[in-house]
Amino acid sequence: MHKVLFATSEAHPLAKTGGLGDVCGSLPPALRELGADMRLLLPAYPEAKRVAGSLRAVAQVPLTISDVPATLLEGVLPGSDVVLWLVDHAPAFAREGHPYLDASGEPWPDNAQRFAVFCDVALALARGRTHVAWRPDIVHCHDWQTGLVPALLAPHDDRPTTIFTIHNLAYQGLFPAETFTTLALPRALWSLHALEFYGQLSFIKGGLAFADRLTTVSPTYAREIQTPAFGSGLDGLLRERADRLTGILNGIDVAEWNPATDKHLAQRYSARSLARKKANKLALQQEMRLPGDPERPLIGMIGRLVEQKGFDLALGAWPDLAERQAQLVVLGGGESRFESAWRELQRRYPEQVAVHIGYNEALAHRIEAGADMFLMPSRFEPCGLNQMYSLRYGTPPIVRRVGGLADTVIDAAPETLADGTATGIVFDDATPAALALAVTRALTLYADKHNWRALALAGMRQDFSWRKSAQEYLALYERTTRQHL
Ligand code: ADP
Ligand code: GLC
Repeated sequence: MHKVLFATSEAHPLAKTGGLGDVCGSLPPALRELGADMRLLLPAYPEAKRVAGSLRAVAQVPLTISDVPATLLEGVLPGSDVVLWLVDHAPAFAREGHPYLDASGEPWPDNAQRFAVFCDVALALARGRTHVAWRPDIVHCHDWQTGLVPALLAPHDDRPTTIFTIHNLAYQGLFPAETFTTLALPRALWSLHALEFYGQLSFIKGGLAFADRLTTVSPTYAREIQTPAFGSGLDGLLRERADRLTGILNGIDVAEWNPATDKHLAQRYSARSLARKKANKLALQQEMRLPGDPERPLIGMIGRLVEQKGFDLALGAWPDLAERQAQLVVLGGGESRFESAWRELQRRYPEQVAVHIGYNEALAHRIEAGADMFLMPSRFEPCGLNQMYSLRYGTPPIVRRVGGLADTVIDAAPETLADGTATGIVFDDATPAALALAVTRALTLYADKHNWRALALAGMRQDFSWRKSAQEYLALYERTTRQHL
């Protein structure tokens, strides 16, 4: 049985800013179910402590980077039997609010120090340098916040195997060169082959350059990041390490995202009672103050309002689409230029466009259920979870052919419609015109009730549960530890 230290800066329901939280909250229980001995390591943000409930201190961990030791708090990941370890370190984590951003939306000025503390604790646990008897044979790290762990472990002979999963290569944890010295990192790590990235300190390079194995969250993104267009300057390094890199498609939490049991919905439904979905549409139109109309097609969008998600393509396309009498419901928060552009569109089209700026988990469920179709025009998308949620909710997605979107949605072409494999609409160019064309294609198909229903049902039949992907992680753990020993 593998002993896995699973280190992450987010895990739903304790901390979540996006899909990383969803994945790191649902993959450990899936691995646990397959027999792995899991320890989920997460910073002790105040909200995480509150949600976790009962916790007890199990160790004091002296740090190299700070005179204040960290305390390891033990509990359980809610809704599972996965052991939870929270890294309690007041200077780093005892502050309310967003895990990475201050109240004005800027990164916390000491993010490098905060996540270096987190990595330092992971390192101590991985090397058995604490009073905790349990020692991992695998350390599974996620995204830049944990990037220093593989780098710091690499020189030690007695170390566990390291696996680094890339959820989003565009977030790299870049800091000014001076930060390197303040973190008391080994001098040898200041090199172009290690943590230096064009004169800056890069946390993510610690993972990419030093982990025994690299994974990312879809097969297509695994190929894309080896090209300059998607590599964010790291494609060369990833090509060099291509034999160590695999793409494992994310699963979803099929209990949390299940229209038949979803407690947030006005009306629950399943593939057998798809007609009941309509009640959710009417409830959503009412909630979002749009004219209630069961026949008018309603398009949903949810996501972080950042360049990646391509929501601006929809802003550009809307004047063309408006005459088709569709409605659009948008839920998102992020960059203020995008937030104000969406507010403006809502002002111009009050009968058709309804926007909720902010983060609202329950509304996200209601949009997945209430919309007729779900639009996700990402410029790049490592995996994407919302398109899988919408497939499961019988809300066919309209997506760009990139990353995990390309791996999870099958375009409605004459052949795929005929053989029943089509699950959504897929388009290529990242332009408002291509998006408008794709939505028009969806609206035409929507008007054909029979075909639309077949499309929705084909999506609902897909299996996106964690089982298969968790097995792939387990097989990777198996291969890697055998080779490492
Ligand atoms: P990413 O991780 O790039 O943000 P994903 O599609 O993998 O994209 O995951 C996004 C997750 O965050 C989904 O669970 C989605 O419902 C959720 N989400 C994003 N924005 C919001 C929001 N404004 N309100 C509620 N949930 C949101
Ligand atoms: C990232 C990606 C998203 C992916 C998620 C979980 O935030 O942007 O595509 O689904 O991580 O892996």
